[in-house]
Amino acid sequence: MPIKILILNGPNLNLLGERETGTYGKETLAVIEKTLTKAFTKIQFEFRQSNVEGELVNLIHAARKKDSGIVFNPGAYTHYSIALRDAVAAVSIPVVEVHLSNIHAREDFRKNSMTAPVCIGQISGFGSYSYHLGVMALVRYLEKK
Ligand code: DQA
Repeated sequence: MPIKILILNGPNLNLLGERETGTYGKETLAVIEKTLTKAFTKIQFEFRQSNVEGELVNLIHAARKKDSGIVFNPGAYTHYSIALRDAVAAVSIPVVEVHLSNIHAREDFRKNSMTAPVCIGQISGFGSYSYHLGVMALVRYLEKK
């Protein structure tokens, strides 16, 4: 069975490439998705992005039936969404939290993650390569299980 990974992005990440490029880089989400597809040819990816908290909850629920795991950038919801934390905790598939920026080196309100404690781990600060590292960590976790 091929490994199936949902790459899930939260609010404002649809604007990557034009949004605060000094912090988040110049690559668009489409470019990041293409790079992952090329780098991990054996993995079946699904790419989803939503600016709506409830939609992200629904996508996490749906993933539990069809995906091996999730690489999740919850965007600003990271810092205050109990609903997303509960959604991650509710599903038995592993979730890796990723951030382009190093959230621990920024404003105090970004240092706390509601979601990280229910994920298998967090990767933060490597720009778009955080997604690559997230996939590598998830695959290794799945293969060791
Ligand atoms: C982010 C960090 C969050 O604090 C911020 O709200 C984002 C992007 C990141 O990838 O660095 O939207 O998740």
